[in-house]
Amino acid sequence: MSQGVIPLSLKDAPALIERLLPVQKLSAEAYKEQMAVQGKTLTALGSYWKGRKPLILNKACILGCLLPATDSPAHDLAIFEKLMAMDDESFVARGRYRPKPREILAKLSIAHMTDYFTVEPEGVLPAAAPLDWSDPTYEGVKVAWRSDVNEMGRRRLEAQMLPRATYRERVDQAQRPEEVSNSVDVHIWDAVNAHLGTSAQSFGELVEQLGIMRFGHRPRVADTFCGSGQIPFEAARLGCDVYASDLNPVACMLTWGAFNIVGGSERSRETLARDQQELVRRVQAE
Ligand SMILES: C[S@@+](CC[C@H](N)C(=O)[O-])C[C@H]1O[C@@H](n2cnc3c(N)ncnc32)[C@H](O)[C@@H]1O
Repeated sequence: MSQGVIPLSLKDAPALIERLLPVQKLSAEAYKEQMAVQGKTLTALGSYWKGRKPLILNKACILGCLLPATDSPAHDLAIFEKLMAMDDESFVARGRYRPKPREILAKLSIAHMTDYFTVEPEGVLPAAAPLDWSDPTYEGVKVAWRSDVNEMGRRRLEAQMLPRATYRERVDQAQRPEEVSNSVDVHIWDAVNAHLGTSAQSFGELVEQLGIMRFGHRPRVADTFCGSGQIPFEAARLGCDVYASDLNPVACMLTWGAFNIVGGSERSRETLARDQQELVRRVQAE
């Protein structure tokens, strides 16, 4: 891959979506999102709107259009799955429960447990795990993560604790990526940047840099059949500039609401809530 963000360096590069897309995994993710019903991000604005395109699918399509297909499809797929929170370490973050050090030491084979954990008092536990905590000589021993093991290191180890399961079963048990969006991607950026020649630490930065490499500017997404606004909403959330329109005024209203209510700032939501109360007060006074 190219070194650094060079404008138009990906101008003629084939897009990933032309070569590969993990549709079975995407299907499992999209199904989970659709089944979330009122837990979906935009449904509060009009659950009767039936033709919604799942946000996770929109994300996959946008990234698939921006990312280049290189001569290493396996690597391309691994990076795409990291960006989609489909990799093992992301599933650790998507889990509803993170295992405690004692649980990890009871289950995993670790040659030197002090590579990861502090043990107090020292010298009571053997060097290697797994351990049988029912051994009475281990009573009162405290284990904790070493402070210099970063989140990536923890996730790598905890990923070995993930149950053997099909992808669909895994997704069933996990939270949706957007439910943990503030932390799920913290481990991915070194690998993503090394593969793409970017220097991103967030989706906004990545999308902007890929846009410069592909088009010379931040990507623009236009949806002239925007319906409930799912496609432009996800495009904007990823960091694209977006344009949306529709023949149906209800669709336009829902899309406006997606951007200005669900996606609006705390302040604009407060203003809107005040305006709504004022409207109700005036109508009732009539
Ligand atoms: C299947 S819906 C789009 C759903 C949307 N992608 C979503 O996720 O909610 C198709 C939309 O196209 C709009 N539409 C149909 N014909 C159109 C036209 N000629 N010009 C503009 N919009 C049109 C409809 O009003 C409808 O909102």
